[in-house]
Amino acid sequence: AKEKRVAIAGFGTVGTGVYEALYAKRDKIEKLIGGSFRIPVVLVKNTNKIRPVSEETLVTNNVNDVLAANVDTVVEVTTDATTAYPLVRQFLQNGITVVTANKELVAKHGEELLALAKIYHCRLYFEAAVAGGIPILTSLRHTLKTNDITRIEAIVNGTSNFILSKMRKEGAAFDLALEEAQANGYAEAVPDKDIDGWDAYYKSTIISHWLYGQAPVWAADKPRGIRGVDVRDLVLAERFDARIKHVATIEAHEGVVASVEPKLVLSDHSLYGVEGVNNGIHVEGSIVGQLLFQGPGAGKFPTASAIIEDVINHWTGTSEQEPESSELPRATANVAETADS
Ligand code: NDP
Ligand code: HSE
Repeated sequence: AKEKRVAIAGFGTVGTGVYEALYAKRDKIEKLIGGSFRIPVVLVKNTNKIRPVSEETLVTNNVNDVLAANVDTVVEVTTDATTAYPLVRQFLQNGITVVTANKELVAKHGEELLALAKIYHCRLYFEAAVAGGIPILTSLRHTLKTNDITRIEAIVNGTSNFILSKMRKEGAAFDLALEEAQANGYAEAVPDKDIDGWDAYYKSTIISHWLYGQAPVWAADKPRGIRGVDVRDLVLAERFDARIKHVATIEAHEGVVASVEPKLVLSDHSLYGVEGVNNGIHVEGSIVGQLLFQGPGAGKFPTASAIIEDVINHWTGTSEQEPESSELPRATANVAETADS
């Protein structure tokens, strides 16, 4: 079989995770794809930093080196939409499939980039952009496709959940907890996006497009983040057998309505026990009933895992058919409720 060639654009927390995991799992991957693969080039901003890469990998800050490397796939893990958008456009226009973890890019430009991928006969994958290591997008669209999904409540920002958990359990100061989230590689380059709710806003936008083919109507003019939540609020909540969680809610009936805000959740709520860097996505399906997807929502290897699975599914042709978003759920009986009653 022809050798597969993948480039990595961005070589920070996630990019190095992808590189290391691809090599660590080389034997298994080569068995899965029935051939060999290579990482001929990684794209960075600063070429003066020392990079732990093998001799076969060129480290460059020139996108033309990526275009000249004859790669079939680029993993895009730079910083934000402004940085990634022109790069990803160029890759797609050259027929190169892109696998990205960049939720801001997908939320702001996903529709256009998906259309571009179609025109140039390549693909855009972004499972890693929502909920880190949890395969939520694939599950929602492909293994719950017959269910009408009318409500999702989710913790989708690992940094915020990590901070709230640390403040509650250890009485840690907000700033120190944020510093630890940054040191662990969970936070965005500009962490305001995490703690002011924008990261969860982007992820909710992606879920809405993914499931219903449209952006949600927002319940408020901007998301609310966890800045301003005080240790005393968290302690007070505990007295009422509750916790404060940063929750994104997406509801689909006639249209799609979403909100992102800190919420009081009682101890019998499925998101109550989702702690630390974990994300939790509570999904209500019309046949299955209530589900909770839970797992690491940020970090080097959980994110690398989601990316690598997209890459390998692309290489093996085992990603689902060209994904189509479903319609709004119909106002028909909820089978799960009917069966229960
Ligand atoms: P980092 O800040 O650790 O790494 C960013 C990388 O992008 C750096 O290697 C930087 O280069 C490179 N870069 C910046 N500007 C450019 C440019 N113009 N051209 C080429 N490379 C550039 O980020 P993360 O690895 O944490 O995150 C990467 C992406 O993944 C983001 O979109 C983030 O939202 C997303 N993500 C992150 C998760 C996480 O847990 N960290 C989880 C899920 C998604 P240099 O090294 O030279 O500075
Ligand atoms: N900064 C993001 C978070 C990374 O903390 O959830 C994962 O998307």
